Amino acid sequence: MTDLLSTEYRGPHALSSRGWLDFAARLERREEIALVRSLTSGNSRALDVGGGTGELTRAVAVQLGGCTAVEPHTDRATRLRETGGDIEILPGSAEDLPFDDGTFDVVLANWILPYVTDLERSLREIARVVDLSHPDAKVVFIGGAPDNELVALLNETCVPIAGEPPDDQGYLLAVAAEVLAGNGFSRFERYRTEAALHFPEADLEQRVQAAARTLVNFWYEEHPAAAEMLVAVEPALRRHFARRPHAVGDQGVVLVARP
Ligand SMILES: C[S@@+](CC[C@H](N)C(=O)[O-])C[C@H]1O[C@@H](n2cnc3c(N)ncnc32)[C@H](O)[C@@H]1O
Repeated sequence: MTDLLSTEYRGPHALSSRGWLDFAARLERREEIALVRSLTSGNSRALDVGGGTGELTRAVAVQLGGCTAVEPHTDRATRLRETGGDIEILPGSAEDLPFDDGTFDVVLANWILPYVTDLERSLREIARVVDLSHPDAKVVFIGGAPDNELVALLNETCVPIAGEPPDDQGYLLAVAAEVLAGNGFSRFERYRTEAALHFPEADLEQRVQAAARTLVNFWYEEHPAAAEMLVAVEPALRRHFARRPHAVGDQGVVLVARP
């Protein structure tokens, strides 16, 4: 039982851009996007840390007229004006945000904590760039819920092959709350969201193979034991699809921190 409760994180996951793009193409996250939009409706200066493919950045930019994103997987600053809102993407990482203190009134850090190399430093940086005097100042984190089906499948099949401790995303959000509490934040709320990867393939074996590739490539594409992991995840996916034939849940917890 105590194995389920982490006292430290297993270390940053390697996220290959190909693995993430395949994953993102299968992901349906309307509920998450709607919640982020309603949480940011009273804000004006928004930062999306680790914006990735920009789905949430775009939703916020359309609503607020603009959004800045910081992304390590880009090598030059880019400005986009394609959606009615200005998007500025800057190269950088959560550990070293290229902004003065208090530049933004809302910071989004969605599904990025498993990937940062220095968790506590990233969290202090996120807190630093929030303008605590703004009446609606906040940080919004999204991470995996305790019943996240994708993380459970990876924990059951790939994590033992990698010889790693099980992934526990609740630990990351608990540390986020603790670090922000020490950096000017005192009110915390949590919400739950349903998102899922969709596998519309009619043939079960094609579906199992597509899902195995998507799941393994997401965290372990470049792992030396990736081929062994693909074989290991298939029986677990057959059992999973017997219950939920065309989707793997990516259930989230949204943590909102306010001063
Ligand atoms: C799973 S994706 C999530 C993307 C986006 N936030 C979303 O919800 O769609 C994780 C993102 O974290 C970014 N990332 C990795 N290391 C990071 C770091 N040290 N600081 C900030 N972002 C990082 C990756 O490049 C990737 O875009």
